[in-house]
Amino acid sequence: MTGGFCVFVLFSLLHVSLSVELTGLYGSFTSPDFPQPYPDNQRIVWNITVPDGHRVKLYFTHFSMEPSDQCEYDYIQVLAEGNETLRFCGEEEKNSESTPRNTIILSAGNIMSVVFRSDYSNEGRFTGFQAFYTSEDINECLSKVDGERVCDHFCHNYIGGYYCTCRQGYFLHDNKRSCTVPCLSQVLTKPSGVLTSPGYPSPYPPMSQCDHTISLPEGSRIILDFLEPFDIEKHLNSPCPYDMLKISTAGQEYGPFCGSTPPGRIDTGSYQVHVAFRSDASGKNQGWKIMYTSSKAESTTLTED
Ligand SMILES: *[C@@H]1O[C@H](CO)[C@@H](O)[C@H](O)[C@H]1NC(C)=O
Ligand SMILES: *[C@@H]1O[C@H](CO)[C@@H](O)[C@H](O)[C@H]1NC(C)=O
Repeated sequence: MTGGFCVFVLFSLLHVSLSVELTGLYGSFTSPDFPQPYPDNQRIVWNITVPDGHRVKLYFTHFSMEPSDQCEYDYIQVLAEGNETLRFCGEEEKNSESTPRNTIILSAGNIMSVVFRSDYSNEGRFTGFQAFYTSEDINECLSKVDGERVCDHFCHNYIGGYYCTCRQGYFLHDNKRSCTVPCLSQVLTKPSGVLTSPGYPSPYPPMSQCDHTISLPEGSRIILDFLEPFDIEKHLNSPCPYDMLKISTAGQEYGPFCGSTPPGRIDTGSYQVHVAFRSDASGKNQGWKIMYTSSKAESTTLTED
């Protein structure tokens, strides 16, 4: 056992470790000495980088590596961000299930690394591999981000990227994907009235930012009633992290409100009320409707000169 350990140390001194950068739209690479048998104790990494908005397409035209259980001795390993790591070994004709034979390996993004590794022996005189890669435009319009389409309304793919546009009447938010409508700030001065989310009871647009004020003569007392349907995107464990409705007066805040149960009547005791509504980039919810009324505060004595 001691002898074996010494041998290991000796061989590890002869280890070759190399990293090769590959750029450009296409190319090829092979195991060292190809098509002769590959040398022992090698670890070579080819990092393939293609332009942004493209993916790497890799295929092997020749494959012959020492077979082993789980490819633990000699192997080719393919790594790409957003993809599971793949490992191959064996020979095309004999161990086809562990070789990359006839498969085209695609990366999710624009970088792929291929690792070639040989251990201390290649008794079978395996000849290694020859691989080709090309870049391929990613059609981002077909992909999803967190289960949502990349653009709210229309998606346009071009080589190397994409952009979003919106239906008439909407504008593209700064986040480059949400289509929203401007929420005009209202100032309501009548003794009673109604406020709603944009488009109510149709789903409100993403990235809404609404700030309304009910402003009545001093001495009035504003009362708010929330009508059905009341539907604001909510989260089970956290209070209204996505979309929310918030009411405030000079001395008090109510909310944030979300979910599907309307809050109970709020007697604000105030003559000025601010109603703020925010929505995030996702979700389809119907929104809210507030009916307000007012009364004159009884304690106020009006002086007439
Ligand atoms: C090659 O890619 C690997 C994995 O993505 C990374 O860890 C390594 O730093 C890269 N090598 C070079 C020389 O860029
Ligand atoms: C890598 O991910 C992309 C996109 O998710 C998928 O199309 C491709 O098949 C994956 N490749 C491998 C080798 O798993």
